[in-house]
Formats: sequence, structure tokens, C-alpha cells
Amino acid sequence: MKKRLGVNIDHVATIRNARGEVYPEPLRAAVTAERSGADSITIHLREDRRHIIDADLKKIKRNINIPLNLEIAPTREMLKIAVRQRPDYVCFVPEKRTEVTTEGGLNLRRNFSLLKKFTRILKNNKIRVSLFIEPKISDVKLSSKIGTDCVEFHTGKFCSLYARKKNYKNEFIKLKNAAILAKKLFLEVHAGHGITYKSLKPITKIKEIHEYNIGHFIVSEAIFHGLKNVIFTMKKIIQN
Ligand code: PXP
Repeated sequence: MKKRLGVNIDHVATIRNARGEVYPEPLRAAVTAERSGADSITIHLREDRRHIIDADLKKIKRNINIPLNLEIAPTREMLKIAVRQRPDYVCFVPEKRTEVTTEGGLNLRRNFSLLKKFTRILKNNKIRVSLFIEPKISDVKLSSKIGTDCVEFHTGKFCSLYARKKNYKNEFIKLKNAAILAKKLFLEVHAGHGITYKSLKPITKIKEIHEYNIGHFIVSEAIFHGLKNVIFTMKKIIQN
């Protein structure tokens, strides 16, 4: 099984929007990620459009040759956009306006009928569907009943505990058991949120996990890999 890396470029849009500028362009990040070996591009179109905006979605969809994974809240507005724009994949995520980032998995029990209906509509439109959930046995079972193609486990709690070397083993076991059950139920297993070089290593030991969606750390590390070249170019312009 070839493991896949989905590169989340929301944070490029966050930097752009912080200054109301046209750069850095998320499309350029998507193309760079594709050229660098990313297996898919992930973008989250939030209801408040705080980072990715509708125009980014359209441009990225038109200009990349790897699958586009669109994260959306399960709302009618977002469903309509997904059906119209036809990303290759959709991942339903919970959304709260006041949160800094996606804080946890979906509440499947409360949104069961809605998610089932939306999943069917997307699958009828040949869009692969994933549900962003907590690594819980009950949520894996509910996901299977909803009829999704994949589940993405929220790894935020594990990654944060692992970084602090604090009681992470229990969280790791939860992830592993949930992944094993998901695979048994013929769900493709993904992982995402808070993953760094360090926390990725233990997560890769869970062989059932097929895809990793990583954003914040990649964009953060990219600063240090690019800073030298940018400063060099600026100095060259000054000196000429
Ligand atoms: N997967 C999902 C479903 C997410 O909501 C996010 C955060 O937007 C990620 C992956 C990426 O998380 P991070 O930016 O912490 O790597």
C-alpha cells in the first residue's frame, strides 16, 4: 500500500489575508507542492472564508494535476459548492466560528441523517467522501453506517501529548484500534491535525493509515527552508 501525503495549504492563504494582499498565492503553493511530490492538495473552505476563498478553490481545481481534497462543514451552502466545483475528495469537518482551528471530530450521532444524505449526494457525483472523526470505536461504526469511503482521524490530541511526552500511549492505542476497525469495515484510513516530523514517525507505525493530511507544520518549516534564499535575493537587489 503506497502511503499518501496530502498537503494542506490553508496557512498560505492565512498569511495573504493577514495583509489583504494578493501574495502569497495558495495556487502557487499548490503547484509547488505538486511538483515536490505531494499526492493531493487539501484546502478548507470555511464558512467565514478566513483563509481559503471561493476564487482559490476554483483556481486550484483548474490548475493542479493531483487530487484536490476539499474540507467543508456539512452545510447546504458547502454541499452546493462541492457539487458545483467537483473536487476529487471531500472531507466533512466540524466548524465553530470562534475556534482557531478544527478542535475535534464530527458529532456523528447528532448529524447522522444529514451526513448520510450529503455523503450519498457527493458519492453520486463521483466525489470521494471522508469524515473527520475522533479515534473512537463508536465513531468508526457510525461512519461505516453513514456510508463514507474514508475516515480521517483527528490526531491533534495524540500529537500534542507526544510533543510534551505526556500520557500519549493511551491516545496512540486509541488511534491504532480505531484504524484497525476502520480497515476491517472497508473504510480507507487517514490521519490529520497537528502532525510534525516527530509525531509523524509513531503514526506511520499504524499500518492501516493510508493518507496523512498535514498543513501547519509544513508551512511553518518552509519558512526556515526559504528564508536564506529570499534574503539573498533582496540583498542582491539592494546592492545592484
Ligand atoms: N485534516 C483536517 C480534517 C483538518 O481540519 C486539518 C486542519 O485544517 C488538517 C488535516 C491539517 O492540520 P495541521 O494544519 O495541523 O497539519
